[in-house]
Amino acid sequence: MRGRFTPKGMTDVAEMEERGVSSAVDLRSDTVTRPSAEMRRAMAAAEVGDDVYGEDPTVNRLEQRAAEIFGREAALFVPTGTMGNQIAVHLHTRPGQEIVCEARSHVYNYEMAMAAAFSGCLVRPVASSDGRLDWRQVAPQLSLAAPYHRARTGLAVLENTHNMAGGVVTGAAQTAELCRRFHELEIPVHLDGARIFNAAAAAGASVAELSRDCDSVMFCLSKGLGAPVGSMLAGSRDFIHRARIVRKMLGGGMRQAGVLAAAGLVALEKGPARLAQDHALAKRLAEGLAEIRGVEIDPARVETNIVIFGTARTGFSAAEIVARMAEHNVLAGAAGPDAIRLVTHLDVDAAKIEEALRVIRAAIERA
Ligand SMILES: Cc1ncc(COP(=O)(O)O)c(C=O)c1O
Repeated sequence: MRGRFTPKGMTDVAEMEERGVSSAVDLRSDTVTRPSAEMRRAMAAAEVGDDVYGEDPTVNRLEQRAAEIFGREAALFVPTGTMGNQIAVHLHTRPGQEIVCEARSHVYNYEMAMAAAFSGCLVRPVASSDGRLDWRQVAPQLSLAAPYHRARTGLAVLENTHNMAGGVVTGAAQTAELCRRFHELEIPVHLDGARIFNAAAAAGASVAELSRDCDSVMFCLSKGLGAPVGSMLAGSRDFIHRARIVRKMLGGGMRQAGVLAAAGLVALEKGPARLAQDHALAKRLAEGLAEIRGVEIDPARVETNIVIFGTARTGFSAAEIVARMAEHNVLAGAAGPDAIRLVTHLDVDAAKIEEALRVIRAAIERA
């Protein structure tokens, strides 16, 4: 394996090996990263207590730091982004309401129908060309009057960056404008900011600016920031107080969770600074892909760490290409019958990206 890397890459390989990163080029998601040595040290040394009693000092510190960074009154440590989103859905809505969101959004497609199962709500998806909600398309889908026909819109959920739209960033001005419009109609807004730090790095704005007008925001420590586990939900003091109760309902009240929060703190303080590297690697990946026969991708539209390319003109299905790639230790995910998603993260470097491109080219261009 070592032989496949440039001298610069060798340093990375040694560091990756220390963390137990496999030799595969794993581009399935930015959730596959292994905790750094610094995180493991922080976990081992973490001061802990019973967080259900509010007595874990490390969790409390993480919650305070997250609230500070987002300019909010309070924040809550939750095991997953899904739980953070669904707690927000539950608190902002009443059973029998609708939730409006972009058609490819996570809250609609990948959260096990929990908006319906747990909160009794119907999701009203709104298609957009690029993952950013366009008010002209949203407005006709809202339901505010005629209570005997259609359920009322009780919540809007935004996603930034937008995962399945290819890591697309919604800027601070556009988010503020959407929030203003929803709020005029008394519709609260939750931001699924699983990758809001990627959005901030790309937009040159702070996460506080990008989420300021949203009523609540969830972000993940366990994606690009590199923590092994955990997400945060931030909002007003009262909202987070009630969120803590719903977290307990969902079985998310953890005890000596400081061992996880310690890794989360390292992720929060150190993770954001290196996201630009992931974005540069994703751009390089997209540029290389654009040179492969039949691949459909516009590198100019790759804004963060997610690259989705079309395979319809290659002569192979996405699943076939993914399977061929896996034979050569390059892992990716099909994002539909004719689309493949690749995600860069801290456990891939420039050498691994070149290796991935070589394997993808061979998978597609071999007769
Ligand atoms: C946009 C988005 N929101 C929420 C989540 C949920 O995070 P988790 O996997 O921690 O439940 C993900 C995870 O991939 C995501 O991409």
